[in-house]
Amino acid sequence: MRHDSTSRAARRKLLRWAAASPLAMAGGSGLWASQAPAGSQVARDDAAVITKVEDALDVFDFEAAARRTLPPAHFGYLATGTDADDTVRANREAFGRYQLRVRRLVNVAKPDLSVKLFGTSYDSPIVLAPVSSQRAFHPEAEVAVAQAARAQKHLQILSTLSSTAVEAVNTARGEPVWFQLYPTNDWNVTTAIVGRAEKAGCPVLVLTVDNLGNNRVTQKRLTRLDNRACQSCHAMPPSTGRFFITRPIFSGIDMSRAERVSPQDWSWNQIDRLRALTKMKIVIKGIVTREDAELARERGVDGIVVSNHGGRSEDSGRGAIECVREVVEAVAGAMPVLVDSGFRRGTDIFKALALGATAVCIGRPYVWGLAAFGQPGVEEVLKMLRRELELVMRQAGTASLSRIDSTYVIDRGRW
Ligand code: FNR
Repeated sequence: MRHDSTSRAARRKLLRWAAASPLAMAGGSGLWASQAPAGSQVARDDAAVITKVEDALDVFDFEAAARRTLPPAHFGYLATGTDADDTVRANREAFGRYQLRVRRLVNVAKPDLSVKLFGTSYDSPIVLAPVSSQRAFHPEAEVAVAQAARAQKHLQILSTLSSTAVEAVNTARGEPVWFQLYPTNDWNVTTAIVGRAEKAGCPVLVLTVDNLGNNRVTQKRLTRLDNRACQSCHAMPPSTGRFFITRPIFSGIDMSRAERVSPQDWSWNQIDRLRALTKMKIVIKGIVTREDAELARERGVDGIVVSNHGGRSEDSGRGAIECVREVVEAVAGAMPVLVDSGFRRGTDIFKALALGATAVCIGRPYVWGLAAFGQPGVEEVLKMLRRELELVMRQAGTASLSRIDSTYVIDRGRW
């Protein structure tokens, strides 16, 4: 036994050394997998990586399992931030700025996690954020996620860049999902995909406004370690140079003038044009300031997702949780405020709710579950986060979400 633990310790030391060394980037097989990406809780060596869903103790166990399962390029796509990944780290570290003020002797035998969004009740405030190209993580992709969302009764938001058609996802979910919109530079394409989502029954359009170009160094670095032939899956239509047009949502649409998704010349005027296009509720994803929240309110937007895209689209260095209070104050109850980026524990979710958020979206954690174990992995991530939220609600003495208010949180960074 002694010998075993000594050799395990020595191996761990070696892996830690290797991870810190530039040689790791030169790519011995498996060595890259022992490095913790930015914002990750721990680096886990092979011996500690779970092989069964039921062995997971927190969502980071799924991260380690996904890292072991996925090819480096795909894990890089999932883990990456932009530049030096400072905002990925900030998203996690910012939770430390808030402490909980817990109450005692409250009857919390049956915490009620239900929440209402646009008149529909959901069993929990934990929402699956839109994540593109999920076939890169598991062959069953968005269908496995939709089936997990259905089984665990969670709201799912589907990316424009989904690997699966919206109609098939709605069938798997058992009801229409919210549809996330990346417009292209061609308004006709935008009109067509918004019309398709509406016809499929999606009640809410989530317009993402924070993806205007980025420098994803971690993704590029890990892609260099991947020596598989990528062309078989990433083949582009001849001479277009635009992989995005292969996504199912664009099928049957004239894409000849669509050069990029998320056009850089959009301003608030396009929100009015979008409003005229659809009866769906319009939620803007990517708002992080009071000023923009006020403009959204003036324009009659129906909801906001406070988000920095999981630290993938700008390196502001500001944690998303730190943006919640000013957005909530600016909208003054006029619309729901959801938030995402860096949520990994029940206490993280509780803090956002105490700061005034209506619900919380998660991105990478459910994709870790998907990559490692398919639908059961996604389900366990959702169950785990729900269990953790329920636990902290008991510990804090809040029997329902409506009881979680600003008196339950102390902001050490408030100036
Ligand atoms: C995303 N995100 C995203 N957002 C969006 O509006 N449309 C999209 O297509 C995608 N695609 C996407 C791919 C991958 C691989 C990731 C990790 C993220 C952002 C996503 O909706 C959400 O804002 C973040 O994932 C939240 O941060 P965490 O939970 O991943 O830290």
